Amino acid sequence: MTSDEQDRIARGYLAFVVEAAPTSPLYARLAEEVARSDDVLAFLAGLPVGKRQPNLLFAAVQFLHGAPEDGDQLRSLVADDAERLRATMLGRATQTNEPARCGALLPVLGLLEGPLALIEVGSSAGLCLYPDRYGYSYDGVAVGPSDGLRIDVATSGGVPVPSEVPTVVARIGIDLNPLDPSDPDDRAWLRALVWPGPHAEARLQRLDAAARVAAREPATALTGDLLTRLPDALALVPPGCTPVVLHTAVLPYLPSDAREAFVEQVRGLPVRWIAQEGPGVVPGTGERAPSGWGPYFVVSLDGRPVARSAPHGGWLEWLSGPLAASAG
Ligand SMILES: C[S@@+](CC[C@H](N)C(=O)[O-])C[C@H]1O[C@@H](n2cnc3c(N)ncnc32)[C@H](O)[C@@H]1O
Repeated sequence: MTSDEQDRIARGYLAFVVEAAPTSPLYARLAEEVARSDDVLAFLAGLPVGKRQPNLLFAAVQFLHGAPEDGDQLRSLVADDAERLRATMLGRATQTNEPARCGALLPVLGLLEGPLALIEVGSSAGLCLYPDRYGYSYDGVAVGPSDGLRIDVATSGGVPVPSEVPTVVARIGIDLNPLDPSDPDDRAWLRALVWPGPHAEARLQRLDAAARVAAREPATALTGDLLTRLPDALALVPPGCTPVVLHTAVLPYLPSDAREAFVEQVRGLPVRWIAQEGPGVVPGTGERAPSGWGPYFVVSLDGRPVARSAPHGGWLEWLSGPLAASAG
């Protein structure tokens, strides 16, 4: 392990401070502490590249111990429970599944001719495959079922809020490691991935409610890489419906050549394509942050940016300005 490596890890944690600060002041503080702690940096440097990121470390700590109160407690946990922490980080991945992202997908789905067959690549537990089973409130305007989970969305820019949810006839998820919404262990991991902060309680309640919906009506889950499994998913689409390939918060996990290959692949398919990713992750959707994330997501339809959204749901801004016009 070199000090260069530790410096690189520290820089990643400092970049995360900016990302986490608006919604999880605790994680922002913990990430700052990690960047200053030689011991925690040495622990992280002993893990393979790709297993060192803040989301994974903090989720593993939450999973095993609950959220630490401060940097001192985090350092002690890493020192005292290094082996279990290491095993958890090696055995699991950052697979945050946020059903509130459906609040940004629904108006775009409403523009498409139904019935729809949804193919989500990078689906985690598949909780974004049920946009028709959740209820919504767009600035107080209700859409969809009123007897279960409700997703609140503050809108701007003239969001075309649909009057009803679409008809979905197929739900197909592709993931390297599909999580099972009915499995208590997978659900515990999904809960551990939620950042502590003012929105955490609402997110946990949403997660539990959405997991119950998904467990009642299981989606088809295909295991494997999105590039190789996409043709298999398409083969499962029933006739007479519109196939929609969608993804949210997935493409930054791919190396750039795989990301480019995926974009080329999906552009060549007879499908509609909805992406909800950091700016610029889909070409033509803004300037890409080095991490691939950013303070907001861009929602695009067939590669054309149509809206900005909160990364974990909550607000949606419809675009009519230069970003939308620059679409290719
Ligand atoms: C952050 S989660 C997002 C889950 C869901 N789309 C959401 O927004 O709630 C990213 C998911 O992408 C999956 N993933 C990453 N790279 C992948 C690949 N090459 N092929 C298939 N799935 C992948 C991960 O396993 C993880 O479950």
